Amino acid sequence: MKQFKRTTVTSALPYANGPVHIGHLAGVYVPADIYVRYLRLKGEEVLFIGGSDEHGVPITIKARKEGVTPQDIVDRYHNIIKRSFEEFGISFDVYGRTTSKVHAETASEFFKTIEGKGGFIEQESEQYYDEEAGQFLADRYITGKCPHCGSEGAYGDQCEKCGTSLSPTDLIDPRSAISGSKPVMRRTKHWYLPLDRHEAWLRQWILEEHKEWKPNVYGQCKSWLDMGLQPRAVSRDLDWGIPVPVPGAEGKVLYVWFDAPIGYISNTKELLPDSWEKWWKDPDTRLVHFIGKDNIVFHCIVFPAMLKAEGSYILPDNVPANEFLNLEGDKISTSRNWAVWLHEYLADFPGKQDVLRYVLTANAPETKDNDFTWRDFQARNNNELVAIYGNFINRALVLTHKFFEGKVPACGTLDDYDRQTLEEFANVKAEMERLLDNFRFRDAQKEAMNLARIGNKYLADTEPWKLAKTDMERVATIMNLALQIAANLAIAFEPFLPFSSRKLRGLLHMDTFRWEDLGRTDLLPAGLQLSKPELLFEKIEDAAIEAQVQKLLDTKKANEQAARKADPVKAPVAFDDFEKVDIRVGTVLECKPVPKSKKLLQFRLADGLGERTICSGIAPYYPNPEELVGTQVCFIANFEPRKMMGIESQGMILSAVDADGRLVLVQPRAKVADGATVG
Ligand code: 2FM
Ligand code: ZN
Repeated sequence: MKQFKRTTVTSALPYANGPVHIGHLAGVYVPADIYVRYLRLKGEEVLFIGGSDEHGVPITIKARKEGVTPQDIVDRYHNIIKRSFEEFGISFDVYGRTTSKVHAETASEFFKTIEGKGGFIEQESEQYYDEEAGQFLADRYITGKCPHCGSEGAYGDQCEKCGTSLSPTDLIDPRSAISGSKPVMRRTKHWYLPLDRHEAWLRQWILEEHKEWKPNVYGQCKSWLDMGLQPRAVSRDLDWGIPVPVPGAEGKVLYVWFDAPIGYISNTKELLPDSWEKWWKDPDTRLVHFIGKDNIVFHCIVFPAMLKAEGSYILPDNVPANEFLNLEGDKISTSRNWAVWLHEYLADFPGKQDVLRYVLTANAPETKDNDFTWRDFQARNNNELVAIYGNFINRALVLTHKFFEGKVPACGTLDDYDRQTLEEFANVKAEMERLLDNFRFRDAQKEAMNLARIGNKYLADTEPWKLAKTDMERVATIMNLALQIAANLAIAFEPFLPFSSRKLRGLLHMDTFRWEDLGRTDLLPAGLQLSKPELLFEKIEDAAIEAQVQKLLDTKKANEQAARKADPVKAPVAFDDFEKVDIRVGTVLECKPVPKSKKLLQFRLADGLGERTICSGIAPYYPNPEELVGTQVCFIANFEPRKMMGIESQGMILSAVDADGRLVLVQPRAKVADGATVG
């Protein structure tokens, strides 16, 4: 493996259109911070870059809704986000923003260099234009009826009701969200990054040369590459962003996903105006991007293609993307307020940053989506941080004060049990390194906790408080060893629990504090005066957890009420009209995903008369469609046939849609004859 001189670590720039929540922390910022703190402890040269992503359409939409400018929005949230990260000890070397002057210059230069090398293609296309507002409409600015579920208010990129991905031309009766007028099609020119031209080297670079990337990352890249890459537009018709820096581009800005990753570079420049280049251009620098899974394609394919097209930059060596964190079994959602916001957490649990860091790492969505629950949070605090780590440190300090006036006693002769204990933690350093080097932070943290377990067991088994009556020399050896383990814990936990490590380091008066020292048993010299014991962690009572659970229940209730209000009962229909809809029951003979569609399942049904094919957009909710074979579903038998992804769908399968847009098939409780009518 190549040896590098230094490491540039980036973490995804969060959009400055809302505060940050536990999902952000668990997926990106805590893992990145653990990694950076570990490298720093090892004495390596490392730079940790963060910042806010302040362009893009959602920010303009939020500003419009609130009647303020986009700049007002990003100023507000940039500060809130920056502060949350500081409070949680995310140790950025710089936290910049993409509305800075340096960034505009850097992104413009970057664009111009690629343009100058013929690295873009210019292409015209037809896009929706609002004649009243006099502007082109971003997909999110076009609303209409969803062609799929029929609900009003679907956006040009997605129907939030049924979750289907749309393009603006799919919408029935499209309207501009700005003026409400009917948009017209107008030709417009944009710059495209021809990813197809980059496909060959990207395939070689990722699929052959980076087989060590995490399976979730490698797999996503492979499926993108196997589908074939297409040119991607890197400009937009919008008035919020960095102007496209070439003549003839009036009214056009760089697409947010073009300028955002360049933000990593601009923020480095902001911090190190004279020496930034070595962090981005020296082949001896290792570049690592920490991101969530929704950013994989941009960091593994699009940004590397941009860097290559520009020509003077290094490429990422690794992109350890995480999956998503859910909250109490449900997807975290800003719009539904289904989240634990960091600033609210700190208001409710002041000083408990490390507890959240610990729980989020213990449950990190490293290989699959994972769930945060308040009960688990409480259990991990009370049963692990308090009962194992905190308890051991407290016992070690209390006993030292009781028997040795708070001074580290000298170590005498070790017995077999001492040696056995030392052996147990002799390989903690190597094991943690193996895990940390491979971005396996959950397991690395488990190793650190294991060291605390070893310490606890050692004290429980040797019972120095009993020996104190008869053999103080032995007690001195035991306490010396226990205190050395405590000092080791301060180092081992530093990347994970920096606040507690700082406190412990202070209690133990540790001078040296390096990763290299992990595993040593002479970290604290005999005679060293220790501070009075203080608890590292405190128990979290049921009432505090119940309050959090109640808060979420209230949110759920409020969401359901809002959904009912937004979806009132429709106008009455006459029985004759209802009778026109022919709803029947059929048995599923076959059910499979429609190729190239994330949403659609293709059903073959026995409908009483024969068979029919119906496509239904429920794939995300039925990951094992073959399990539906043999069950019965309800369908509209006289729904006009229509083509979906090239397949003729002969009817519509009925599903219940809940407030979140989750779909559940409507199925008879007992078997009925195929073709039975529903009414
Ligand atoms: O998904 C997001 O939140 C984006 N704002 C991440 C951008 S990462 C980088 F490219 F800046
Ligand atoms: Zn829909």
